[in-house]
Amino acid sequence: MPARSMRQAPDEKLQVRAVRRGDLPEVIALDATVTGLHKADYWQRVYRRYGVAGQGLRHFLVALIGKRVVGFIIGEVRDWEFGSPPCGWVFAIDVDPRVRQAGVGTRLLAAVRERFERVGVSLLRTMLASDNQQILSFFRSQGMRAGRLIPLELAIGPGQ
Ligand SMILES: CC(C)(COP(=O)(O)OP(=O)(O)OC[C@H]1O[C@@H](n2cnc3c(N)ncnc32)[C@H](O)[C@@H]1OP(=O)(O)O)[C@@H](O)C(=O)NCCC(=O)NCCS
Repeated sequence: MPARSMRQAPDEKLQVRAVRRGDLPEVIALDATVTGLHKADYWQRVYRRYGVAGQGLRHFLVALIGKRVVGFIIGEVRDWEFGSPPCGWVFAIDVDPRVRQAGVGTRLLAAVRERFERVGVSLLRTMLASDNQQILSFFRSQGMRAGRLIPLELAIGPGQ
């Protein structure tokens, strides 16, 4: 179901724009505060894939208050996978813990949604860990509900 009831965030000082290479150290640091991992190589790869040559289908956006990066979101239009018409996937969102619950996440999701809609996408999708109540509560607040896809997984490799 398309997320049609996203709230408007009130904070006018907040800016959302495409990521720039110079934002990466702050993105890496923000991710590290949440995950405890400093994944510089990973973020360089994400930047090359989503931050540069997106052709309107890949989006890596940052939220700034003044010059400080306070959040990011990454999403991509994927078509005809899982038998599905083109839809917009959000696969990463993170907001600086110091500015949470002030509308930053809402603004980031609205910005990526708008970019998906510009290319004709009418369905937004994401996945989340079943025990992550915070992110579930956030996505539900944006109007997102359980969809018709079911994730399946299998542990593979040595020892399985
Ligand atoms: C989830 C997250 C992105 C929300 O960002 P945010 O800027 O705080 O979100 P908003 O201020 O726009 O919140 C919108 C609504 O989401 C819900 N929400 C947000 N944080 C919540 C929390 N901690 N508990 C319950 N509901 C919450 C509320 O309904 C909120 O509306 P309200 O402020 O009127 O109550 C942020 O908490 C975060 O970065 N979490 C850690 C990252 C993470 O787990 N990412 C998932 C892996 S990709």
